[in-house]
Amino acid sequence: MRIVIDTDPAMGSLGGDPEDCFAIMLALNSPELQVEGITIVQGNVPVDHGYANAVHWLELLGRSEVPVMAGLELPMSPVRRRQRSWLELRGKLERLVPRRQPAAGDPHAVDYLIQTVLENPGEITLVTIGPLTNVALAHLREREFARRLAGVIMMGGSAVVPGNITPMAEFNIWSDPDAASIVFEAGVPITMVGLDVCHETHLEESSVQMLSENPTELSRFVVQAVTPWIKFRAAANGSADLHLYDSLAVAVAAKPELVTTQEAFVAVETEGRHCEGATVTYLDPTLRKILVKRDVNAQVALEVRAQEFQELFESRVIKPML
Ligand code: RIB
Ligand code: CA
Repeated sequence: MRIVIDTDPAMGSLGGDPEDCFAIMLALNSPELQVEGITIVQGNVPVDHGYANAVHWLELLGRSEVPVMAGLELPMSPVRRRQRSWLELRGKLERLVPRRQPAAGDPHAVDYLIQTVLENPGEITLVTIGPLTNVALAHLREREFARRLAGVIMMGGSAVVPGNITPMAEFNIWSDPDAASIVFEAGVPITMVGLDVCHETHLEESSVQMLSENPTELSRFVVQAVTPWIKFRAAANGSADLHLYDSLAVAVAAKPELVTTQEAFVAVETEGRHCEGATVTYLDPTLRKILVKRDVNAQVALEVRAQEFQELFESRVIKPML
């Protein structure tokens, strides 16, 4: 499967969950996947941080030939002000890798997405592991975009479990609900890998331990990136319990059989006072037909073969760092 990863990679420190970087590594180490490019979106951290993090990470992995394109800096939703202060805070907290700028002439992420998909009709699957700002804009700018996409495998939302940033919303959807709504309405085949399954995954303490005990350049860097974040989470929540959200979405691209999906109509709450960014998931066909009168627009992952996923993660991400 030829994929483009749309991502908001933090580097840990206190700035944000370093998990997108693991997901990128998992994709690069998966023979089932060919990573065409990586597009950066606002989300965990500002786009310039995400860009620098992705470039640095690819260098560490010896995979600098994979193109990285910087994308949109702010959400399209009216949550702009809220998200701006979030990004400013995250930007201040995260200082681990040198800042980098795209070279003059590098395409913008949205242009890259449109061009790559249009030139390869039916070939490209987007694995989205950040907010959907870039993807929504690509769709609004070029109507052929959605028609020519093979599909979207999306880490985002939750069907029957609570949110993780508010009681109702998952972070990637909450960070730009209008963009998410546009993507769900775009008519592209979507696999939603949401909190229902992602919360069954874990960055095992034993994995971090293994990385600390076997210092390579890569493992040292990862431990340095992850440790402050683990401590921060543990202090805030009583337990760090880091989930491998984005890695699961990538794993589903490589091995769809890892999850069991159910068809649904997913609506994104874009106007609620308290429920903004909620993915209201109509699994019941009768409700879809009679109440909302809407067709299925997503396959929603509801069960995961968690042990198999953990083994895959260990063999393709943790072990190669040692
Ligand atoms: O809700 C999980 C998502 O937000 C993941 O993409 C992870 O990177 C976090 O920031
Ligand atoms: Ca992410």
